[in-house]
Amino acid sequence: MSHSEDGQIAADIDGYLKQHQHKELLRFITCGSVDDGKSTLIGRLLFDSKLLFEDQLAAIEKDSRKWGTQPSGMDLALLVDGLAAEREQGITIDVAYRYFATDKRKFIVADTPGHEQYTRNMVTGASTADAAVLLVDARQGVLTQTRRHSYLAHLLGIQHLVLAINKMDLMGHDEAVFDAIVADYQDFADMIGIEAFTPIPVSALLGDNVIMPSSNMPWYTGPTLLELLETVEVDALRQQRGPFRLPVQWVNRPNLNFRGFAGSIASGVVEPGDAVRVLPSGKTSTVERIVTDEGDLPRARAGQSVTLTLTDEIDVSRGAVIAKADEPPEVADQFEAHIVWMQDEPLFPGRNYLFKSGTNTVTGTVTTIKYLVNVNSQEHLAAEQLELNGIAVCNIGLDRPIPFEPYAVNRELGSFILIDRLSHQTAGAGMLNFALRRSHNIHQQAVDVDKAARMALNRHRPGVVWFTGLSGAGKSTVANLVEKRLHALGVHTYLLDGDNVRHGLNRDLGFTETDRVENIRRVAEVGKLMVDAGLIVLTAFISPFRSERQLARELLEPGEFVEVYVNTPLATAEARDPKGLYKKARAGELKNFTGIDSPYEPPEFAEIEVNTGELSAEEAAEQVLATLRRMGMIR
Ligand code: ADX
Repeated sequence: MSHSEDGQIAADIDGYLKQHQHKELLRFITCGSVDDGKSTLIGRLLFDSKLLFEDQLAAIEKDSRKWGTQPSGMDLALLVDGLAAEREQGITIDVAYRYFATDKRKFIVADTPGHEQYTRNMVTGASTADAAVLLVDARQGVLTQTRRHSYLAHLLGIQHLVLAINKMDLMGHDEAVFDAIVADYQDFADMIGIEAFTPIPVSALLGDNVIMPSSNMPWYTGPTLLELLETVEVDALRQQRGPFRLPVQWVNRPNLNFRGFAGSIASGVVEPGDAVRVLPSGKTSTVERIVTDEGDLPRARAGQSVTLTLTDEIDVSRGAVIAKADEPPEVADQFEAHIVWMQDEPLFPGRNYLFKSGTNTVTGTVTTIKYLVNVNSQEHLAAEQLELNGIAVCNIGLDRPIPFEPYAVNRELGSFILIDRLSHQTAGAGMLNFALRRSHNIHQQAVDVDKAARMALNRHRPGVVWFTGLSGAGKSTVANLVEKRLHALGVHTYLLDGDNVRHGLNRDLGFTETDRVENIRRVAEVGKLMVDAGLIVLTAFISPFRSERQLARELLEPGEFVEVYVNTPLATAEARDPKGLYKKARAGELKNFTGIDSPYEPPEFAEIEVNTGELSAEEAAEQVLATLRRMGMIR
């Protein structure tokens, strides 16, 4: 940066900002290892252009949001908030953002470390990037790492891939070296479906083809790196060409006469008088006004934050999408998606997570992991769970339908993050590929004889009495006594017991964490059906994870779920060892045994806790019955 400009910034920050605020903003990431000269290259770009102070650029960036020049993409603020929470929990995400500007554009570059274990860093940096600069050392050519970064950049929807073949000076500026690397990369690009990329021979150290064309390589006639970055189309422009979509962030109702729908336009342009359709309801209306802080607009485009008013009083709430009437997005609740996992605790199919997509937050599950992608070899592998930094293609099912677009079409409406329901951590990020056909074709069938009708025939309310605790704690024994007492009282009951269910319904399941999650999910669903039938269901399963017990609870209505923690010290259960299993587990003959080499998460808010180390089974059963009476389930 020149001294005179320094002076100008100091003297007139406002003027300086104004000069920049209407410039387009390009976000790009750089990928490569330290040895590839990544830092040198970034240093060169910053040094030779006009480096700005970070707080000033933060102001520009804020302004650019207002002015609608920021690229659309996965909601950065959202993602970064989530990740900031992780950082507080001691998980480091190392993405360094740097800012600079030239006469033509302003830039944000995300510098992401290259190691495999930092897949999530790359995802963070790349999810909003317009371009990726992939550094290749001319002496080494295309490496596994180059392929991994390319795959991720492509997966994350980055439109412009630049292959910066660096250290050309060390290879005598030889065109043949350049051509061979380009040919090699072309083969790989074809394989994974990268349609276009721009190779540039550079020397970051000496500056060849970074800012100025190199006289050392007259055979290269393409753009320099900076020329390219100054001219490639930013994603925000691409999104402006798409059909109009406004995900509604909040409903603005300052007084009775005004009802506006506020949000940031995800794609397209809008004008008063445009016909729109509101998803998921499908209702149509016409845009009346486009309201902003600076007054009404005649026109607004992708990236701008606006409030729309409509000519009709129709129901629109947060999470809805207002769209071009004759080109609406799809609405679905089951999808195929790519998921990148970001937390230590693996993803298990069947477990409930929060899915946050745009302005929607919905509970849902990964129903199946179709395959894991080996990011280095592009191989597809079978898997039962998804580990930290892993990438998989999965089917997901949400609790209610959402408006969406495939990620390849719209990064904002096609992306989501997964949030762990207990820790509230960002657990993963995903990209929607397409809706599964069955989600359009499977509907709930309405029936006339319902739960209330069946309940009226009984002299008790239905519910699930969920016993949880270690093996040998006495769950089955107590549950059995409770059922006998209920039966004697004329209550319609059914006992689902782990050992029995595992011989029938769940005989395909073992004791890995994945299988236990599925075991409990099925039992919870069966319990729900039986409650619908009017029964009091008793379940006796170790059910070691809070998450699945919570799922069972949430399948029912308030007051229908009674969690009974059968609490016995491990030593007591082990001393009893009714089936000789602890002995086997200690001898290493039985793997994944709860309490020994597989975890048990005790309940935090059980309706009742019985300590079978101190109480007899009869006393424990009596206490459970008293709880059921107190809750009004039985008389
Ligand atoms: S759960 O963890 O998935 O809820 P569940 O209650 O169905 O377990 O089954 C537990 C019963 O299976 C135990 O009472 C025991 O008899 C038997 N079992 C066999 N292997 C194991 C194991 N590795 N861990 C726990 N229980 C086991």
